[in-house]
Amino acid sequence: MAASVLGIIGGSGIYDIPMDNARWEEIASPWGQPSDAVRRGEIDGLSVVFMPRHGRGHVYSPSSINYRANIDVLKRAGVTDLYSLSAVGSLHGDLPPGTFVLVDQFIDRTFAREKSFFGTGCVAHVAFSHPVSPVLQDIAEAALKAEGIAHARGGTYMVMEGPQFSTLAESQLYRSWGARVIGMTNMPEAKLAREAEISYCTIAMVTDYDCWHEDHGSVDVAKVIEVLKANSGNATRLVSRIAKSFPRQHPPCPAGSDRALDFAIMTAPDE
Ligand code: ADE
Repeated sequence: MAASVLGIIGGSGIYDIPMDNARWEEIASPWGQPSDAVRRGEIDGLSVVFMPRHGRGHVYSPSSINYRANIDVLKRAGVTDLYSLSAVGSLHGDLPPGTFVLVDQFIDRTFAREKSFFGTGCVAHVAFSHPVSPVLQDIAEAALKAEGIAHARGGTYMVMEGPQFSTLAESQLYRSWGARVIGMTNMPEAKLAREAEISYCTIAMVTDYDCWHEDHGSVDVAKVIEVLKANSGNATRLVSRIAKSFPRQHPPCPAGSDRALDFAIMTAPDE
């Protein structure tokens, strides 16, 4: 079994997760420009690597993030297990702003992003029916409970292209599909993590009710930022708690993420 290296992808508010020996490290990728350098350090001896998804200063929109480079850089940094902290809108009355949701499914409606490391030359189709590692969810759920953070486990994350928020008709459609939260960033991130054989788990932080809720208006970025700021303490404590309790040897993934390529490659090997 390999030693665990914990990856965290997140936004503003958690750049300062307390770590020993924290340093920013530039890692180049043949897939192009990643969002930023990674912040690497240790928490209780566990190696932790943090990638600011939108770059420091929030300079990449969800559609302009180079997801392939980001995941490749995390792989090169040795990451075995990855938590993706993401702001989302709520599509359900039971999930008010401030709730952290451990989603277990996605509907990918993005269309303007590079979604695979494989294509011409080497063709692979990884299994993806269970996109999230239940082991990572167990660890996150225990940490959420221990920190007393309002949370829910399970549900589907609708991933939209953006950058505009949804129309009312779209929001109602996604609710009728049974999706519980909506955001713009977890695809193709989760797909690429699977292709890179990195175990993946989303921690979706609800910032708003999207636009379907009769008692709330349209989504307002100022309010989203306000909730994110209010949540950043919770997010930082959560990541520290997860790191402290995380197994020091990579926990095998029941969803098969850490051996996803074993049965995925179609192209014949070179003779
Ligand atoms: N991110 C945060 N809130 C969102 C929403 N309502 N729709 C899409 N992405 C979001």
